[in-house]
Amino acid sequence: MIGIIFGPPGSGKGTQAARIEDEFRLQHLSTGDILRHEVALGTPTGKEAERIMAAGDLVPDALIVAIVRSRLPEAEAGAGVLLDGFPRTLRQAQALDAMLADEGHRVDLVIALEVPEEALVDRLLHRAEVEGRADDTREAITERMREYHHLTEAVLRHYRAQGVPVEAVDGTGSPDEVFDRIWRAIPSPLAGEGAPGPKGPGWVGPDAS
Ligand code: AP5
Ligand code: MG
Repeated sequence: MIGIIFGPPGSGKGTQAARIEDEFRLQHLSTGDILRHEVALGTPTGKEAERIMAAGDLVPDALIVAIVRSRLPEAEAGAGVLLDGFPRTLRQAQALDAMLADEGHRVDLVIALEVPEEALVDRLLHRAEVEGRADDTREAITERMREYHHLTEAVLRHYRAQGVPVEAVDGTGSPDEVFDRIWRAIPSPLAGEGAPGPKGPGWVGPDAS
């Protein structure tokens, strides 16, 4: 299964992807996490991305597509992949579709988290105090939201137009409540053989752990 967890900055993509990875055995591939790792290591990619990210802008499509192209085959070798933060532009979506088509695959599901912008900003400013992520400043948050509306929302329209199931999920409330809604939105056949999804073997409920 190839899934995408989609949503504006702060909507809980990373938080929920970690849970989905555990419960549905999908490998979480976050382009933001990969880039932050490259920045921390001071690699050429990290050096190219650092200032762009801190300003809240999107790094060039070619750079991100190259990263995903190099990681996707290994991730695809398992039960499935959950992409977080990618694709973020129409070009990236087209590049992903072409990569998958080469393997006879396609995007199976998009989970789109929905959270009002005021709550997103509160979450990110709170994280700024706790973790100090470089792009959680008020200016960068404003830019990230602008990029999301300007470039990223088009990705949803792209997949809807292709007939890919796009499941809008209310991302407000506690992380447990959000995960419960996601769990209900993931069709068990897509979660893979033997995966503990709804109606899947061995599943005893989203809160059991
Ligand atoms: P990326 O890392 O993808 O960041 P983002 O999309 O801005 O989103 P966040 O990671 O901030 O939020 P999230 O939705 O993952 O929510 P989270 O679970 O963390 O990208 C960063 C940058 O990298 C981009 O701006 C760009 O520069 C570059 N980049 C990455 N991918 C790219 C691409 N494909 N193309 C071009 N450039 C790219 O939660 C947020 C906070 O809220 C956390 O503190 C969390 O604890 C809290 N929280 C989560 N859920 C809840 C809840 N239910 N209630 C209360 N708080 C919650
Ligand atoms: Mg994230």
